[in-house]
Amino acid sequence: MTSQEFKNKLQARTARVGLIGLGYVGLPLALLFNEQRFPVTGFDIDKKKVDTLNSGGSYIYRIPSTEIDVARQGGFSATADFARLRDMDAIVICVPTPLNEYHEPDLSYIVSTAESIAPHLRAGQLIILESTTYPGTTEEVLVPILEKGNPSGLKATRAKEGGAFYVAFSPEREDPGNQTVARRDIPKVVGGLDPCASELAAGLYGSVFNRVVLVSTPAAAEMTKLLENIYRCVNIALVNELKLLSLRMGINIWEVIEAASTKPFGFQAFYPGPGLGGHCIPIDPFYLSWKAKAFDFHTRFIELAGEVNLQMPYHVVASVGAALNERRKTINGSKVLVLGVAYKKDIDDLRESPSLTIIELLQQQGAQVSYHDPYFKFVGRGRKYDLQMECASLDNLGQYDCVLIVTDHSDYDYPRIVRESQLVVDTRNATKGISSRNLVRC
Ligand SMILES: NC(=O)c1ccc[n+]([C@@H]2O[C@H](COP(=O)([O-])OP(=O)(O)OC[C@H]3O[C@@H](n4cnc5c(N)ncnc54)[C@H](O)[C@@H]3O)[C@@H](O)[C@H]2O)c1
Repeated sequence: MTSQEFKNKLQARTARVGLIGLGYVGLPLALLFNEQRFPVTGFDIDKKKVDTLNSGGSYIYRIPSTEIDVARQGGFSATADFARLRDMDAIVICVPTPLNEYHEPDLSYIVSTAESIAPHLRAGQLIILESTTYPGTTEEVLVPILEKGNPSGLKATRAKEGGAFYVAFSPEREDPGNQTVARRDIPKVVGGLDPCASELAAGLYGSVFNRVVLVSTPAAAEMTKLLENIYRCVNIALVNELKLLSLRMGINIWEVIEAASTKPFGFQAFYPGPGLGGHCIPIDPFYLSWKAKAFDFHTRFIELAGEVNLQMPYHVVASVGAALNERRKTINGSKVLVLGVAYKKDIDDLRESPSLTIIELLQQQGAQVSYHDPYFKFVGRGRKYDLQMECASLDNLGQYDCVLIVTDHSDYDYPRIVRESQLVVDTRNATKGISSRNLVRC
């Protein structure tokens, strides 16, 4: 297929779009393409997810099954059969990019995805990587696997060489739980391997997003995503450090942030918390610091921010200990209820959640820990935790020596929680405006 034929297919909405990795990023994106009347197929190695979607169900809280039903009526289906990739015109990769146990990039998901695309690659296809990763991944990791692994010896298009398939990188910039910005209104940054790949990728995204921002290379697009997340990570660390200082000085940091936010320029508010969570901010910066080492470069801001942010769950546990101590109690033997295990409010995502670390630290110190979260009936085992706990009831708050607010879900009735608890430790300023001798903000 020539690039002109590809453009014609985009215009006619007949370009077949394959999404690989139907998680928090891939599934909503698949639905967005489907909404814009593209024929969409979702690919995932998780057979359970594929079956759930094909029977009209959903496994992501904020995507109701009615949306899946509508999408299926519009032609959406899911499959674990990667041979069907051959039928796709555009393939978008949204697989995980975690860190390994040594805190280094784990590209195994991207590698195995590339290996499953390669045998089915055909001329004219557009392959886009959306997984967050270090600059260079698209050109140095993805493209060589696609080129070596395809039986017809197809090459990717590059500025001077000519080639048969197109490759681009476009970062996902979604903000889970954010109801104010529609997905289509988040500008889509795109960097292709050559101008033609950029143009096709821009055309594809331009059909569903309101604005496309072209950068000159995939590496620039990869770096754009990392800059955004490092910016957040560093600023959160800064405000976390200033919170620790403010606590010592008897200043309310929340009041300070609110006052500083009235400045109409030059200040953007970031908020302190119990530690970083989610699949992005605690992880992505370390993709860059790892890559930087190959250039004899030490990314000091990233390391320092990581150091400060990693200490926050320990600070929370120390604050619980101090608050109990004031009441002549110890963590050892106390009953503690942790409110919220999701890594941020109003979402059903546990990944890297500071609550999990806090629960483990409290248990190690002998507390009897329970948790409540409207989004999780049960917390089992993940990459870094093994809790096997069931969601407690909120009926008898008075039985706990301490109720610890870690995630400030909107559903909670904070005045009631403060009124009925012996002691509340609040890590999020969720109890703003409430004053009580039972309340400690940390
Ligand atoms: N979740 C977010 O808010 C967010 C925001 C921006 C960027 N990102 C980035 O997007 C990427 C995906 O994140 P996510 O949150 O959607 O992850 P996720 O874990 O929710 O989903 C990933 C999906 O990929 C599937 N998968 C794994 N290996 C596969 C393979 N070889 N072939 C096919 N499917 C495979 C998994 O089964 C899973 O369904 C990551 O790089 C992440 O950093 C995530």
